[in-house]
Amino acid sequence: MANPGGVLIAGRNGQVALELARAFAARAQPFLALGRSELDLADSATVEKTVVALRPAIVVNAAAYTAVDMAEDQPELATAINAIGAGCLARSAYRVGAPIIHISTDYVFDGSKPAPYVETDATSPLGIYGASKLEGERLVADANSRHVILRTAWVFSPHGHNFVKTMLRLGREREEIGVVADQKGAPTSAADLADAVVALTDKILGAPDRSDQYGIFHAVNSGATTWYGFASAIMSGARRRGSKTAHINAIATADFPTRARRPANSILDASKLLSVHGIVLPAWEEALEHCLDDLIIQPN
Ligand SMILES: NC(=O)c1ccc[n+]([C@@H]2O[C@H](COP(=O)([O-])OP(=O)(O)OC[C@H]3O[C@@H](n4cnc5c(N)ncnc54)[C@H](OP(=O)(O)O)[C@@H]3O)[C@@H](O)[C@H]2O)c1
Repeated sequence: MANPGGVLIAGRNGQVALELARAFAARAQPFLALGRSELDLADSATVEKTVVALRPAIVVNAAAYTAVDMAEDQPELATAINAIGAGCLARSAYRVGAPIIHISTDYVFDGSKPAPYVETDATSPLGIYGASKLEGERLVADANSRHVILRTAWVFSPHGHNFVKTMLRLGREREEIGVVADQKGAPTSAADLADAVVALTDKILGAPDRSDQYGIFHAVNSGATTWYGFASAIMSGARRRGSKTAHINAIATADFPTRARRPANSILDASKLLSVHGIVLPAWEEALEHCLDDLIIQPN
């Protein structure tokens, strides 16, 4: 296992990790994706040893403890992976002279702002997951000045667990589904996020010493909706492809209690990514169509 000069991806079977592997392979860029059995972020000593042995040119951290509700009962594990482990990965990258691209989340905000969040807005996570990711941002930035922290939101893809796959399943199983209509955000395709990471990697490896390209950036598909709007678009796309669907009823967050609170406004303003890096992710509706094409086999 060696990839000197290549891209080291932390995470292998996750939504973003799988799309990163696809995107780097399509560019014929050498990469190595390590899942938790090969690179356990909860085990800092082995993280450092592994990165130093591999000597990658750049590290992309797509690994995280992502179970938002379970994190409320496992704060130590969430912090070990999302904060301490992420910081250790960034420090290990620094030791071998590698920049790091680290994926973070809209959950660093409390959602009370009446407008889209910009990178400099005050953070105030509502739960353990968001707090652990925020601490991860701080530790990554402290450990390695050559960092790009990409905050994304509402990630979907044909892989793993996500809202699109849940809605398609419930659409087949039920006649009606209640979906919250008072939380807004930008559904974001793991594939589009991965393409943005590949473009960033090219730029960074082309000029690793340019300090103006580093920092925190918001990276989400363009546009915004509510979970209700997203669910309605999924059902209409599924219906057009011949799948059985359910009727979506708008409900309030108060009618759908969860262990961890969610931000009411998760909309991230991604204009800094465009102005600094020239990168803009497509509209979420277009991204959803691609995902549905992959997920639904249409009758001939
Ligand atoms: N999903 C969302 O809606 C969402 C929203 C905002 C931000 N994000 C952020 O986006 C990034 C990617 O999320 P995702 O949706 O792709 O997550 P995911 O599908 O849940 O995948 C999680 C990834 O983390 C890895 N992982 C978990 N525990 C680990 C450990 N102890 N050591 C090493 N790796 C570990 C998994 O490893 P294996 O490959 O071995 O399974 C997997 O690759 C995360 O930083 C997440 O916080 C996600």
